[in-house]
Amino acid sequence: MSEFAEIILDGKSFKLPIFTGSEGEKSIDITSLRAETGYVTLDSGYKNTGSTKSAITFLDGEKGILRYRGYSIEELAEKSTFLEVAYLLINGELPAKAELDHFTTRIRRHTLVNEDMRKIFDGFPVNAHPMGVMAALASAMATFYPGSIDPNRSPEAIDLTITRLLAKMPTLATWAYKNSLGHPVNYPKNSLGYCANFLHMMFALPVEDYEVDPDVEKALDTLLILHADHEQNCSASTVRLAGSSQVSLYSAVSAGISSLWGPLHGGANQQVIEMLEKIKEDGGGSKKWLDKAKDKDDPFRLMGFGHRVYKNFDPRAKIIKVACDKVLNKLGINDPALDIAKELEEAALSDEYFVERKLYPNVDFYSGIIYRALGIPTDMFTVMFALGRLPGWIAQWKEMRGEGQPIGRPRQIYVGEQLRSYVNIDKR
Ligand code: SDX
Repeated sequence: MSEFAEIILDGKSFKLPIFTGSEGEKSIDITSLRAETGYVTLDSGYKNTGSTKSAITFLDGEKGILRYRGYSIEELAEKSTFLEVAYLLINGELPAKAELDHFTTRIRRHTLVNEDMRKIFDGFPVNAHPMGVMAALASAMATFYPGSIDPNRSPEAIDLTITRLLAKMPTLATWAYKNSLGHPVNYPKNSLGYCANFLHMMFALPVEDYEVDPDVEKALDTLLILHADHEQNCSASTVRLAGSSQVSLYSAVSAGISSLWGPLHGGANQQVIEMLEKIKEDGGGSKKWLDKAKDKDDPFRLMGFGHRVYKNFDPRAKIIKVACDKVLNKLGINDPALDIAKELEEAALSDEYFVERKLYPNVDFYSGIIYRALGIPTDMFTVMFALGRLPGWIAQWKEMRGEGQPIGRPRQIYVGEQLRSYVNIDKR
């Protein structure tokens, strides 16, 4: 039975096909709307608009469900590893052992960076925010690997670009951090796993040995899994839109990094910790700050709270909150920010303003507390989000390019001046 939506425009009836997804989500396919009716739709912020069909990630904001390629985030966080999840997102299936070994080995073989990229760091001020550095470096990779610019690149060339991104971004991220300290950079060690290598490059010093703590390594791996994809969020949509012009994947990812940096998106994890520190310095106490968050005349918002899609708990926030207690206990860390965060959450969840608007903690509310416990500095928090989200961006780009989707080019409704004649300056 073909379902359709009927709309009456200027007394005329039009039928638009209904498309239903594999989880029962309903949509009205408006592909033919303008050609048939001359009308377009209007939806600022795309709050009601599906930009694509996708088989990568399913989330149900009302029920707090998140699945990558059909596997629940809870199972993957408990049983999988970040590289296995990256393979799953990009290729659609969990890898067999030989496939995962090959994927891991190829990434290991590409962790080194062209030494000429180190000269780029000299152009940044020492206090450069690492997200600005990473966006520049990701785009610069397209100049070091010009083959990636060819829009008709072969599947092998695309696979090499994907491998280079997954392999080199952690190296470049740690170099941005070391550069900000004026410390010598560390080179990757092929004997280490993905997260252990990152921690080694971040924290090893020439003057002392650095041993990776397996608890820290596991916690980092779990955090990266939890950030790996989230369907058509702001940065993934940016990667898709930029990528739809057939620009290099490096440049599309650079656009995604820039978009993620925003405080309403991935930049919120840094804002949360800065907010908790401010509340701690102010003597704590959730009531004053919740009142500020509710006051429309006050620019303060409860960062890490609320979500465009989740109108129930963000399942990732629930997992991270549990991991917070576990990691801080294992590392013997007592961070007052965690107590303040828990107090804020408890107070907000019983406050009418937050309950009415269905505002719950999101992925960014507790993640910064763990990153800090792992020794990651605050302005690197959003870089950690980007490293986690990288396989998701790649999967979204690959799906969009693989389907040969057209260049993204939204319409608009013009509300400016109608035709008028030029007036010479002496007559204005
Ligand atoms: C991420 O999309 C994704 O999937 C993103 C992400 C991913 O994995 O990619 O999940 C990652 O970006 C998480 C979100 C991180 N951002 C923050 O934590 C910033 C704080 N949150 C808000 O700015 C806000 O909740 C957004 C941006 C997340 C969502 O904004 P929406 O969907 O546009 O909702 P809105 O701003 O229209 O808010 C609805 C109401 C408003 O009040 P009224 O006008 O109805 O009176 O809720 C209020 C807002 O003022 N509100 C908040 C609030 N968030 C929303 N009030 C106080 N504090 C907040 N945090």
